[in-house]
Amino acid sequence: MTTAHKSPKKVNPSHAIHRIAINTGGGDAPGLNAVIRAVTLSALNRDWEVVGIRDGYAGLLAPEQFPDGGLIPLTRERVRGITHMGGTILGTTNRGNPLQFPIVDERGHVTEVDRSDELIRAFRLHQIDALIAIGGDGSLTIANVLAQKGLCVVGVPKTIDNDLDKTVITFGFDTAVSFATECLDRLHSTAEAHHRVMVVEVMGRYAGWIALNAGTSGSADAILIPEIPYDLNLVAEKIEQRARWGRNFSIVVVAEGAMPKGGATSVVSKEIGRAERLGGVGEKVASELQALTGHETRCVVLGHLLRGGSPTTFDRLLSLRFGAAAVRALAEGQSGIMVALDPPIVRYVPLEQATRRMKTVPLDCDTILTAREMGISFGD
Ligand code: F6P
Repeated sequence: MTTAHKSPKKVNPSHAIHRIAINTGGGDAPGLNAVIRAVTLSALNRDWEVVGIRDGYAGLLAPEQFPDGGLIPLTRERVRGITHMGGTILGTTNRGNPLQFPIVDERGHVTEVDRSDELIRAFRLHQIDALIAIGGDGSLTIANVLAQKGLCVVGVPKTIDNDLDKTVITFGFDTAVSFATECLDRLHSTAEAHHRVMVVEVMGRYAGWIALNAGTSGSADAILIPEIPYDLNLVAEKIEQRARWGRNFSIVVVAEGAMPKGGATSVVSKEIGRAERLGGVGEKVASELQALTGHETRCVVLGHLLRGGSPTTFDRLLSLRFGAAAVRALAEGQSGIMVALDPPIVRYVPLEQATRRMKTVPLDCDTILTAREMGISFGD
């Protein structure tokens, strides 16, 4: 498989690399360890040294927190047998964004400071020539700023939400969808046995990719996604129609970012320095549907289960391909780019472009058409 180079930003093709760093930022996703392994082996095979930064950038910005000093030397031994493991051997965090780092004063007031220059100095101090940043939109936005400040950076797109632009898919998504689909299969039998409506809330932030793909594959009767504000009267009609057909149970998949027509997303909390936490829409939908239809309704929140476990074969291979391509990109003198899947190739896209907008579900996409033509309701 070849790697195409579109709009590459070659900083210095002859730039000699001796030591690179890898970090993982934001929510974990199955496949992170496979990327770490592919990066490490591809780099060691070029006689480069590799270090892993603990917990995003904390290993560099707060090394005193870590007994090992915050940097893990990545050797063949250290990355042996990790391709199939969920989580990340480096640790991750969705706190402590170095561009808006929260500082709490003695009166408890929180202010945000930009620590990116300090971070660049830390990279230089540790003689790190380049960074491979594995992350979603937040982590890759940080990576883009570091690249603009002169650090040699290549990004690897990660998120179960699949909401990163300029790549057809991110690793972690296939595993999340596969698991959610298996859950829907399991919920069918208990829903049917008890003549219940089961409402299943899945992650995805402001994009409905997980709900749409799992809901369609798992034969949901209604799928509610952020891209299509819903009217529960229409979902209730679908449930009643099924009851008239003798199907006294229904499955409704709700993306955590879904919202009623004219209403708002359900937010659990908003802390300084963190993205808002979504959740709660499943329970709301369940109690309203029970009131509208009179059918007993239960809510299941899949939540972080979608982020755990072993990556699917698709995600393993994609992660390994992304990791190797990221090292290849550095060897070619690239910086400020992200590796991206554009089947059948992995190409390079500028981080600037990849982080400009969120990739939401296009309303005319084939999967939505398929679902609609099969009679699945979107509550619209
Ligand atoms: O972005 C990945 C994701 O799993 C989202 O789907 C979800 O909203 C969020 O992270 C949850 O993050 P946390 O780890 O803060 O619970």
